[in-house]
Amino acid sequence: MDHNAVIYKDLDRILVTKEEIAASVKALGEQITRDYAGKEPVLLGILNGAIVFFSDLMRELDLPVSIEFMAVSSYGSATESTGVVQIRKDLDHDITGKDILIVEDIIDSGMTLKFLLGHLKYKGAKSIRIATLLDKPARRRVDLKPDYACFQIPDAFVVGYGLDYDGKYRNLPDIGVLAPRIYEQTD
Ligand code: IMP
Ligand code: MG
Repeated sequence: MDHNAVIYKDLDRILVTKEEIAASVKALGEQITRDYAGKEPVLLGILNGAIVFFSDLMRELDLPVSIEFMAVSSYGSATESTGVVQIRKDLDHDITGKDILIVEDIIDSGMTLKFLLGHLKYKGAKSIRIATLLDKPARRRVDLKPDYACFQIPDAFVVGYGLDYDGKYRNLPDIGVLAPRIYEQTD
């Protein structure tokens, strides 16, 4: 895609290209396929941000998976979470005794996932692991580490490949740093 295109104009820079993403997702798929050999994991995508990563990752898995989605909102400003998490869409099926692999777009403070881990344990999951596309360890406010992460990134607000700002930019094929002028506007 032309990097001068409309959807790229609000970026400061590209952080991860679509080629780098594809290579990393493929390698992650191979690793998860090995780690879950003989199992039938449930891939749990966290809406909406994880959808692009989720749909690419699931096609790299040579495993009999099933899929589930949850939607959660965490309150706060547009670029900071408060840790108060609310479930907007819960699981569709019973997960008692199942091996759950959470598929998330990004771990920032870690509060969303900390909350979800508690919820899934309460629902009777046998095992729970986390696969995240992006990890921002510098921003962590709770003790939480992903089992799988494609990229560790610096403390910057990023968009693309499913990640949004104010509902937009999810359809960028690459991951880019959003220009601060976009979210620092006060009017
Ligand atoms: P946490 O609870 O602070 O770990 O926040 C996780 C959620 O915040 C993610 O699922 C994203 O929806 C959102 N988020 C955190 N950092 C970014 C970012 O840099 N770009 C877009 N969304 C983000
Ligand atoms: Mg999100």
